[in-house]
Amino acid sequence: MSEVYDKVVNCVKSVREKTDFIPKVALVLGSGLGDYANDIEIVTEIEYKDITGFPVSTVPGHAGKFIFGYVNKVPVVCMKGRVHYYEGYPISDVVLPARLMKMLGAEILFLTNAAGGMNPSFHAGDLMLITDHIGMFVPNPLIGANLDEFGTRFPDMSEVYDLDLQEKIRETARENNIVLQEGVYVQLTGPSYESPAEIKMLSHFADAVGMSTAVEAIAANHCGMKICGISCISNLAAGLNPTPLSHKEVQEAADMAAMKFRKLVTEAITKFV
Ligand code: HPA
Repeated sequence: MSEVYDKVVNCVKSVREKTDFIPKVALVLGSGLGDYANDIEIVTEIEYKDITGFPVSTVPGHAGKFIFGYVNKVPVVCMKGRVHYYEGYPISDVVLPARLMKMLGAEILFLTNAAGGMNPSFHAGDLMLITDHIGMFVPNPLIGANLDEFGTRFPDMSEVYDLDLQEKIRETARENNIVLQEGVYVQLTGPSYESPAEIKMLSHFADAVGMSTAVEAIAANHCGMKICGISCISNLAAGLNPTPLSHKEVQEAADMAAMKFRKLVTEAITKFV
């Protein structure tokens, strides 16, 4: 067995010493969206630092723990804080949580993030349904010996974001009068934000830009999870924004969008199962 696989298995064992909870949906909370955890009927919480071998996040605003509980009776595991490539972890560690949640039983991975808007019709505070991604600016998390336990060597990527889940999220937005943008998310490594020239280039083929999500979706797709994602457009990307970008601005805009985000996520999850 490979080191990467062993590490996930050891994390699963460590979690299983603390809880036998079996989630159906795994939810990853992006920057500033961590308050969503308040909407969960909590059964148990496990801090990342208490899981043997788990990569612990260092970013302010990314408190690190798994929350196990129920969203309207649906069993979920929620990640409050994720692992970013720019923190210096190997890419296999960045996707370890997705694989771990799959091994705990989660069939659906609901990814959320804060992102810079590049589509000229987007505004700060908008929510965007992710319909596809571009992950080729970051290392592919499947590089290395294939982990046959998870999936095939050359996985198909033609429908990473599940069409049925997408439709349920659209439907939920309509029912709750939430304006929902749609588009392609491009992941860069960060941690510096993009230059205006980079945004000009990226805006030709994507609508929103961020530093997470695509690699998690690639690993989750590999191991057969159903995936969906929502970006909170926390700012207009560099060059489209009159002021310099700051992490504080990103968190504040996410806070402003928090109410509709919570509603959308909760109601959509209820429709998923
Ligand atoms: N660029 C990259 N990542 C981000 C941004 C951005 O403008 N906003 C929030 N995350």
